Amino acid sequence: MAVDKNRIYLFDTTLRDGEQLPGISLSTREKLEIAEQLARLGVDVIEAGFPITSQGDFEAVSTIAKKVREPIIAALARAVDADIDRAAEAIKEAEHSRIHTFIMTSDIQIEHQLRKTRDDVLKMAVHAVERAKSYVEDVEFSPMDATRSDFDFLCRVLDAVIESGATVVNIPDTVGYATPGEFGKLIADLINAVPAMKDVVVSVHCHNDLGMATANALAAIMNGAMQVEGTINGLGERAGNTALEEIAMILDTRGKTLGKYTNIRTEEISRTSRLVSNLTGYQVQPNKAIVGRNAFAHSSGIHQDGVLKERLTFEIIDPKKVGISESSLILGKTSGRHAFRKHIESLGYQLDDDELESAFLRFKDLADKKAEITDVDVEAILADEVRTASNIFTLEYIHVSSGTDTMPTATVRLRKNGKVIEKTSTGDGQVDAACKAIKRATGVKGQLISYNVSSITEGLDAQGDVTIQLEIDGKPVLGRGVSTDIIEASAKAYLNAINKALSI
Ligand code: KIV
Ligand code: ZN
Repeated sequence: MAVDKNRIYLFDTTLRDGEQLPGISLSTREKLEIAEQLARLGVDVIEAGFPITSQGDFEAVSTIAKKVREPIIAALARAVDADIDRAAEAIKEAEHSRIHTFIMTSDIQIEHQLRKTRDDVLKMAVHAVERAKSYVEDVEFSPMDATRSDFDFLCRVLDAVIESGATVVNIPDTVGYATPGEFGKLIADLINAVPAMKDVVVSVHCHNDLGMATANALAAIMNGAMQVEGTINGLGERAGNTALEEIAMILDTRGKTLGKYTNIRTEEISRTSRLVSNLTGYQVQPNKAIVGRNAFAHSSGIHQDGVLKERLTFEIIDPKKVGISESSLILGKTSGRHAFRKHIESLGYQLDDDELESAFLRFKDLADKKAEITDVDVEAILADEVRTASNIFTLEYIHVSSGTDTMPTATVRLRKNGKVIEKTSTGDGQVDAACKAIKRATGVKGQLISYNVSSITEGLDAQGDVTIQLEIDGKPVLGRGVSTDIIEASAKAYLNAINKALSI
């Protein structure tokens, strides 16, 4: 079959590089929900995790491998036998599977981190690819810190791993150091210097430390890269990775000039971004390209006037193209269970009967308080149901009182294994009192690192969306909660963080 050199493959590593961010700790159920949405979005490869790192990661990768059929499911492994064997075990039931193995190739990392020689690294890389190849046909190899590696050594390693059976060679800018001109040239030079690279998929993996991850990936595409690795919302180690939604929309919007395309269903971009943000707890910065709240909001009078007369005056992308519909009013007060179930199925959520009933009651409650209910509101409720599905403690009731001359006081009632625990506390404010009452009821001490509240939609009746970062037993953990009442949303977020810490 002829290979279309203009088709760019997207490799999503939200569940691996993205999950390395402090505070993110996704359950298997949450990871599966994200993987299923990534499949609907049309990514070509899902890196589902790093199975050797924990039993939880192993289980999540194998569940995704069993259930998500269309994309290739990749598992990460260092260039050591135990990692490769564990990765192979995790993906053995996938319809399309890949082992992604890596080793550092820059002298600084070889000497100071691996404490080995270049020759050792070369042998380990070859052995790792051969071992991975004994399990699966599709093997990806990454020379970590490639952009700071010696060029000739990098060429030797790439040549050797392709000879050993690697089907994809991925060039990572691990520390986000490259500039677009340099990175594009590196890809072109490697393809020229290592003839075997013409027979495999050349991939790139860029970090965003200098804010150039997307620009670097694009420069690589224009110099022969066929696969781009990245994440939704640009999540990832430190400043993150290339945001895949940006690559997809660059190639879609500027396709005529660039001559490249992806198989992404762009209408799924917004929903994917919201799901990832809802479940990881990482809110999207408002001015983020493509998926930020302000990405399609025109505030200057001249721009608004222009867009009203002709959208193209100031808008290069039709918001509908990324799944933002103009009229998103979807269900009302009178909608019944059946309509609600059908609608949430169309949003791609899979809830069991109890979760569905609970989500429906919350929807009815919201419909009493809020004039217009949109998909974004319903998704926030559904994500909250997924987040709280395997909670150890659940919040049954909260009562808060305060006033100008009254000490803020909160009472919470939690349930754990059928047992009810009720505690009261005072605090500096209502949120503080609620969190202290939860601290007493759970017996879990967390130090508050950050607190953020925003609204899910516009209007005074909007649902509040609270993200709380706690440090529990020295580890950061993020919690999120939504409600039309921000004190309740805060209590839910605080309890969500505690539940996550308890299940790590
Ligand atoms: O940044 C990096 O080098 C990585 C590798 C595992 C590809 O994440
Ligand atoms: Zn990375």
